Amino acid sequence: MYHVNALFALRTVAKSDAVRQLLDMSDYVEGELKYSVSLLVNDAPIHLEVEPTRLLIQVLRDDLYLTGTKEGCSIGVCGACTVLVDGQPVSACLTLVVTLDGRQVHTIEWLGRDATIHPLQQAFAEHGGFQCGYCTPGQIMAAYALLREHPQPTDVEIREGMLGNLCRCTGYFKIIGSIQAAASAMAEGQDAPGRPS
Ligand code: FES
Ligand code: FES
Repeated sequence: MYHVNALFALRTVAKSDAVRQLLDMSDYVEGELKYSVSLLVNDAPIHLEVEPTRLLIQVLRDDLYLTGTKEGCSIGVCGACTVLVDGQPVSACLTLVVTLDGRQVHTIEWLGRDATIHPLQQAFAEHGGFQCGYCTPGQIMAAYALLREHPQPTDVEIREGMLGNLCRCTGYFKIIGSIQAAASAMAEGQDAPGRPS
């Protein structure tokens, strides 16, 4: 029997032939079927044999130990699990791994690699963009995607771009201020070398 979130995910992200096929398999028994999936995670090649209901958040945290990505609501509402797939922000809690064959995934660990931190991480730390920090990896990955599209975003663009990322601590003003500060720092060329800006 499908876990309710996996079923929701199937309906939400049914993009691949494999998933469409599965939606017709009413007699599917969990664990019987596995798919081979090859993808890049933080630029490293990864090969997985996964059940069709396996979610990206499970693979990241439980299999690859990339625990920077957090799970909050598990239904695509809070944004805590935001990662990039081919540069676009997605909810890892709704993303089936079978849809990721040949694709690239980037997580918060990728931004903070090589003992350096990204200007967004610096700005969140300096401008009070987090308190408990649970939502912060998702906020930063969403902000990263936003700044790639709008390097000098207006307040409205930040608010619209970050609509899918909830925070129970900060009241949002300091998150917006942190993103503005990061945008200024990146405009001055303070991004780390080798990291896409
Ligand atoms: S945990 Fe994925 S959106 Fe909330
Ligand atoms: S800093 Fe606590 S939920 Fe955002």
